[in-house]
Amino acid sequence: MARIRLEGVTKVFGAVVAVDDLTLTIEDGEFFALLGPSGCGKTTTLRMVAGLERPTRGRIFIGERDVTDLPPQARDIAMVFQDYALYPHMTIMENIGYPLKVRRYARSEIHRRVREVAEVLQIADLLDRRPGQLSGGQQQRAAVARALVYPPQAFLFDEPLSNLDAKLRLEARSFLKHLQKSLGITTIYVTHDQAEAMALADRIGVMDRGRLLQVGSPIEIYRRPRNTFVATFIGSPPMNLLRCRFQQAEAVLVLGDGQALALGERAEALRRAFRDGEPLWLGIRPEHLALAEGPGPTHLAARVYAVEPLGVETLVTVQVDAERIALRLSVDEPPVLREQVWVRVPMERALFFREGGELAL
Ligand SMILES: Nc1ncnc2c1ncn2[C@@H]1O[C@H](COP(=O)(O)OP(=O)(O)OP(=O)(O)O)[C@@H](O)[C@H]1O
Ligand SMILES: [Mg+2]
Repeated sequence: MARIRLEGVTKVFGAVVAVDDLTLTIEDGEFFALLGPSGCGKTTTLRMVAGLERPTRGRIFIGERDVTDLPPQARDIAMVFQDYALYPHMTIMENIGYPLKVRRYARSEIHRRVREVAEVLQIADLLDRRPGQLSGGQQQRAAVARALVYPPQAFLFDEPLSNLDAKLRLEARSFLKHLQKSLGITTIYVTHDQAEAMALADRIGVMDRGRLLQVGSPIEIYRRPRNTFVATFIGSPPMNLLRCRFQQAEAVLVLGDGQALALGERAEALRRAFRDGEPLWLGIRPEHLALAEGPGPTHLAARVYAVEPLGVETLVTVQVDAERIALRLSVDEPPVLREQVWVRVPMERALFFREGGELAL
């Protein structure tokens, strides 16, 4: 087990800066998720840690060792890819035993160890089959078993659950979390699925266009996203953003359609952070919004755009001004389509972002 450190790591492919000056320390035993949209540089980062790609600039350390110039096999890490990369012509036994075979373990020892991990992963009865004869979930477990059979200093996962159906994905998710916590092996887990990152990770690093935007615990990132990109990338549905203007004299925020929201106790802080008339984004999570009976200083008139029952709660999307905003409501009688409603915005829960997207308050 070991901590992993990236120092100023950059990867340039021709004209594309895939990873841009990444500095990051993943602690010993930590479950770290790298989260970001397609093409933001997650896989490239992971491949550099694995030694499959050489950084254009910067250094990578595993434990105390500078591994930047070491080949993959000298790094003592195991990687599980999105497509599992099992060898199709080998049986599951041979696949799982492969890391031991290349290390010249005796045949009987290989069989013993493979059986042991296969029992844990509940694929012991599949060892004679070939990968093509397994379901997606079984293949995933076989790939994890292969990573486990020779316990590495670190695990690298690249979207390992994306080929599974929704139910199996949840099962596999809790299995992976349990396994990682039981073994305490330092893990980097790449995903573009924010729910997966939230559920699994001790800390999340959010990436966009090769840059690391924010690192923190799932709750920190959920509660205090550093900018509107992170705010709208995390959460389902994401944080609502309302474009408004700060009107200092009246201590209100004015929306494009002229509706005003009283700032109350937040007014003083806004006065210090924003100029009079300055445009800004008010950010509020769907679970913090509620319906009100009628007009009020922090109520907005809105029209119901869609109603989606989720079981425990109902997701209601309403149109306010030019924007659509989402509410998560746990009420017995949700509003109906096109109904005119009042939405209460609890100012104490609101975040305020500058026009450029950066969090101010
Ligand atoms: N071998 C390569 N040659 C040229 N460009 C590449 C290469 N590998 C990746 N890129 C580019 O680098 C950027 C980052 O790619 P990367 O695969 O790391 O993204 P990602 O975050 O893993 O995306 P996804 O979620 O779609 O898997 C992309 O613009 C991609 O097109
Ligand atoms: Mg990728």
